[in-house]
Order: sequence, then C-alpha cells, then structure tokens
Amino acid sequence: MIEKKIKLNNYNILSNRIVVSPMCQYSSIDGSPSNWHYKHLANLILSGASMLIIESTAVSNIGRITKKDLSLHNNLQERNFKKLINFLKSIKNIPICLQISHSGRKGSCNVPWEKSGLPLKKNSWKTISSSEIAKDLNWPKPKTASTKDINKIIYDFKNTATRAFRVGFDAVEIHMAHGYLIHQFLSPISNFRKDEYGGSLENRCRLALKISKIIKKNMPKNKFLGARITGLDHLLNGINLNESVYLAKKLKSSGVNYLCISSGGIITKTRLNNKKKNFRIKLTEKIKDKVKNILIGTTGNLDNLQLLSKNLRLKKLDIAFIGRPFLKNPHFLYENLDKKLAPKQYERVFREK
Ligand SMILES: Cc1cc2nc3c(=O)[nH]c(=O)nc-3n(C[C@H](O)[C@H](O)[C@H](O)COP(=O)(O)O)c2cc1C
Repeated sequence: MIEKKIKLNNYNILSNRIVVSPMCQYSSIDGSPSNWHYKHLANLILSGASMLIIESTAVSNIGRITKKDLSLHNNLQERNFKKLINFLKSIKNIPICLQISHSGRKGSCNVPWEKSGLPLKKNSWKTISSSEIAKDLNWPKPKTASTKDINKIIYDFKNTATRAFRVGFDAVEIHMAHGYLIHQFLSPISNFRKDEYGGSLENRCRLALKISKIIKKNMPKNKFLGARITGLDHLLNGINLNESVYLAKKLKSSGVNYLCISSGGIITKTRLNNKKKNFRIKLTEKIKDKVKNILIGTTGNLDNLQLLSKNLRLKKLDIAFIGRPFLKNPHFLYENLDKKLAPKQYERVFREK
C-alpha cells in the first residue's frame, strides 16, 4: 500500500505514500542555504520518499525562530535558493516543497545546541503575536499585532511563497502548527483579541485562511499547496477536534491540496504523549472521516512500515510525513521497504543479493 501512487492535483502525483517531513537545521548563512543544506538535503532527496519538504523557512527576519533559520524574503536569498533547487533537481526530480513559517512569540530563540529552547538575551528582537502573552515563564512578552502588522504578515507569506515558486519549488506548505504565529492566532490558549482576528472560531481562523487564499490565488496552477495544522492543543479549552475539522474544511475550500495533521506545542508543556507509535493516527482518522476530497496525512513515530501499510489500507491516512528515521538512516526505505528505491549507483550495495 505504501508504494501506491496518489494524485495531488491535475499536475502532480506522489509516487508513494512517504514524504520527508520538514526538519529545521539552524544552519543558514543570513537566511540562505549553507553547504550543510546541500549535504543534508542530497541525502534526503535520495531517500526513496516521494516528496521532500524543506525545513521551516522564515517569511521575515522577525519571523525566524533563531538567527540561523533559513529565510526567503530578499533577492539574495532567492538566488541562493535557486542554486539549491537546481542542485537537488539535478540529483533526483521529485516534488520539492518549502515549509514557510513565522515564529511569532516563539522567535528570538537560541539555536538548540547552544542554549536549548531559551530566548536570546543578547541581540534579541521584539517578537509579535496575536496577544501580549508569553510562551512560557521566563519568555519575553510579545507585542500584540496591529491590523497593519497583520497585513504585513499576510504580505510576507505571499512574498515568500511567490519567491519559492519562482525558484522552482513544486509546492509550499504553510506552517500552522507547533505553537508558531498562525497557531497563536488559531488557539484560544494564546489568542485573546477582541477584533475580527480573535474570539470566535471563525475569527481565529481568519489569518490562516487569508494567507492560504492569497497564496493560492497568486500561485501557478501546475504547483500545489499544503498546510501543517494542529489537530489538538492537548489542553483544556485549547483547540479541539471540532475546531480542527472546521479549519480543515475551510482550508480545503480555499484550495489547499494536502494537510499534515500535527498537534501540541502552543505552550511548552501539554498532555501530548509523543512516545507512543503512531500517536496521531486516531486523531487523523477522525479528521479524515469528516473532511473529504483533500489528501490528509500525519506525522509522528510512523516508522513501523507494516503498521503504516495497514493504516493506509484502512484509510486512516493518505500520506505519512516521516522525519527522524531518515536522519538516523537515509537508506531506511531501501532497507525496509524496497531495494529498488536505491539509486542505480548503489545497485551493487542494495540491489544485488
Ligand atoms: C531535527 C528536527 C527538526 C524539525 N523541524 C521541523 C520543522 O522545521 N517544521 C515542522 O513542521 N516540524 C519539524 N520537526 C518535526 C518533524 O517534521 C516531524 O513531524 C516529527 O519529528 C515527528 O515525525 P518523526 O517521528 O517521523 O520524526 C522537526 C523534527 C526534528 C527531529
């Protein structure tokens, strides 16, 4: 079942059901890809997955998580991304997607291996969010975004998406999960606004939908659009199933082609238990049951391929977004799914008995 093709739109087909999930490397040079990205992504594009999603890339400087985030909002970054895409496509021509994001109140943070998860003390920047509430104790309070700020954020997402399509990405994925800015608008845990962007579910979804619609309206027809959303906040009074189903349906009507169901992250500690195998499958199945005519996948401990195949057959998900197993072993799929996924240059290693 994993090897069964699936159609994204009239122009794009995934050759199997496994996609490389986006994974931040905090290794850019002023937002541009570095040699590390060439090495890391060359491994991943050869993994045998049907699509490669490149890590969370900031739409503006204040939208970065750390100073080392990939960013795509100026001409130099655009030129450097073009070189990277040309390089990757020359190795293997599969769909490549860019995840685009704004960190909001989770920004101005140290690189994880320097001071894990702690905000910058020196050379920090004032973060922005739906409301003036910090992410956690010891985190600075963000500024509440004004209407003008919100219009700029929408413009920034559109600008990054336009640049991504221009340099040759096949798709863009809007990051609406993991406690970043769009999630900060969606969740009642972080959004206390009294204007048209806060309060009711419809209002909290307004920013996410405006961003999706403006990107869809301006993108080439032969490309596609995805979104990573939060199925649950795993908190009392947080985003619940009915709310995520509402958002998923609205994104579908806005022209989004696929959804990756994630969850958690709006504050540091939630009730999410991410140690179990397939820990978001039940949630994904429930959303998929109610939201039709859009591809729906999930992420989190999906590396038991027999179980994955069974869950695909049972239509609990359409696509699996797999991350860490590919970093541990980029040959994971040649060894565990099909030797033929190995490139011909490695034939003697993987394909011969
Ligand atoms: C090093 C690392 C970086 C990550 N960066 C991102 C990211 O940029 N965007 C995102 O949505 N998720 C990110 N994630 C989450 C992964 O995409 C994935 O959803 C998660 O690791 C669960 O899948 P897995 O069990 O297959 O690793 C990251 C995970 C890791 C381990």
